[in-house]
Amino acid sequence: MNLMLMGLPGAGKGTQAEKIVDKFPIAHISTGDMFRAAISNGTELGKLAKSFIDKGQLVPDEVTEGLVKERLQEPDTETGYMLDGFPRTIAQAEALETIGSELKKPLDAVINIDVDPAILGARLSARYICKTCGATYNKLSHNPKVEGTCDRCGGHEFFQRDDDKPETVQNRLKVNIEMNTPLLDFYADRKLLFTVNGDQDIDAVFAEIESILDGLNK
Ligand code: AP5
Ligand code: MG
Repeated sequence: MNLMLMGLPGAGKGTQAEKIVDKFPIAHISTGDMFRAAISNGTELGKLAKSFIDKGQLVPDEVTEGLVKERLQEPDTETGYMLDGFPRTIAQAEALETIGSELKKPLDAVINIDVDPAILGARLSARYICKTCGATYNKLSHNPKVEGTCDRCGGHEFFQRDDDKPETVQNRLKVNIEMNTPLLDFYADRKLLFTVNGDQDIDAVFAEIESILDGLNK
């Protein structure tokens, strides 16, 4: 099963991706996570990506496409993959069609997590992440069961993403909103698009996704 999870910044792609890979044996590929790993490792890719991410801009298409093409050749994608945050432009979507057919791993479905953009600024400002294992929480909607202790690993240290600062968030939303409609049309035309309501609690969003994926698996 080869999937793409799309949605505006803060729509819940990473949150739902974690739940999907718990249930289905497919590789989670988040271009945002790959760029953040490169930044923390201080690589050339990281330096380049940081100069765009800090401004809320997209990293250039050719860089991102090259990264995904390499990643899709790794063995853990043989059982399927779930792209999170890629493609984000029509050029990237076209590149993915070429890569998918070259590697014989074309997309089976695109799941769009639809959320009113008006609530996303506040959601992103309230996000915090476990320093040890990367589990994602939210001050408004999703706190650990024991305050200050990560549910997943028991860690006590949390951080906020640099690009969740209010000035960056506004530009991220603007850039992604512009790209979103053409991309939705692109996948609707190819009959690959499923949309779920991302403006409900996390488990209810997952239940909608699960029923789509169960349908695809039949
Ligand atoms: P990326 O890391 O992909 O960021 P993004 O698209 O801005 O999305 P986020 O990760 O911020 O949000 P999410 O949808 O994963 O939400 P989450 O589950 O965390 O990309 C970062 C940057 O890298 C980009 O800006 C760009 O510069 C670059 N980049 C990446 N891919 C690229 C590409 N293809 N091309 C070019 N550049 C690229 O949830 C958010 C918060 O909400 C959390 O606190 C969570 O707990 C909470 N939450 C989740 N679901 C719900 C719910 N249902 N109700 C209430 N709260 C919820
Ligand atoms: Mg994410």
